[in-house]
Amino acid sequence: MSIRIAGTGGALPEKKVTNDMIAQMVDTSDEWIRERTGIGSRFVSTGETVASLVARACSLALERAGREAEEVELLLVATCTPEDALPCMACQVQEKIGAKEAVAFDLNAACAGFLFALHTAWAYVESGIYQNALVAGGEVLSKMIDWQDRGTCVLFGDGAGAVLVEKCADGGILSFVQHSDGNRGAVLSCGARPIANPYFTGASQERYVRMDGREVFSFALRQVPAAIEEALAKARLAVEDVDVFVLHQANRRIIEGISRRLGADLEKFPMNLEQVGNTSSAAIPLLLDMLYREGRIRSGQVVVLSGFGAGLTYGACVMRIN
Ligand code: COA
Repeated sequence: MSIRIAGTGGALPEKKVTNDMIAQMVDTSDEWIRERTGIGSRFVSTGETVASLVARACSLALERAGREAEEVELLLVATCTPEDALPCMACQVQEKIGAKEAVAFDLNAACAGFLFALHTAWAYVESGIYQNALVAGGEVLSKMIDWQDRGTCVLFGDGAGAVLVEKCADGGILSFVQHSDGNRGAVLSCGARPIANPYFTGASQERYVRMDGREVFSFALRQVPAAIEEALAKARLAVEDVDVFVLHQANRRIIEGISRRLGADLEKFPMNLEQVGNTSSAAIPLLLDMLYREGRIRSGQVVVLSGFGAGLTYGACVMRIN
């Protein structure tokens, strides 16, 4: 028993922000950003929320799967940028799309969040608890970015993606691996609402994303190929058997480095980061949605998903499309 993707959806805010627009705010250039990251533009919220973006992506995924919202049994939203602490984003999405029979909750594993949520859905369906799940990743990272910090503000974008997964007898997800390394959390961090009560006298927390870019870069180059090889070995497949690698869209140079380390043709690593930047937990489902709509993911193909991010968290999943 496994799960297959029955439908995908994606949603972006209306406002497109080009590299040139960012170069008017901080000391950077289109040339620098493209050369170091591959990013050309990103979409930034002018009022869209995680819940509104995820709800749009979920409705599209349901429509493409030919399913009604009332049929959804589990609704998972991966996000590290919820607007509200309560209620969770998944419950807000549930209300917006009318998935009134679903059990809904959030999960935060930063840029690996969608992958970890997909694994959670797989575990629920495999164990027979639910028959299907809407799994989404959505972020409004622009509210956590220090727009004066050129080392981070050029990288991230807002958006959401979702997949409807359902139980299947053959194919679908073949293997999964997940890892977390909390010892290295400081290399990519962001404070949330600080402790503020009459008894607390400590210092206030950092409110914006802070990152050691080089550390993140080398972590991704080391751990992602290893996780992909581990997941492929579990599925008794080799790198050569893979048709498409759907990787977290952080940086073109990271993806090129991973393809080299795996010895796999870069053609097999589709990217959309040039248009949307790094959308954290939305990156993998947004790219999946684009690839399904363009017919670049087809029945019978072996597809690898792999994500990595703050935590540090990372993982990989092997699927046979059906
Ligand atoms: N424009 C122009 N110059 C910039 C810049 C920008 N946007 N950001 C940093 N620089 C400068 C630095 O200040 C530094 O200048 P200095 O030499 O005078 O001190 C110089 O460029 C080199 O900085 P460095 O950090 O070594 O650059 P880099 O080649 O490592 O590229 C990143 C920086 C952030 C693009 C790169 O480290 C990266 O992509 N890391 C991974 C980040 C990531 O993907 N995070 C999310 C993971 S989910």
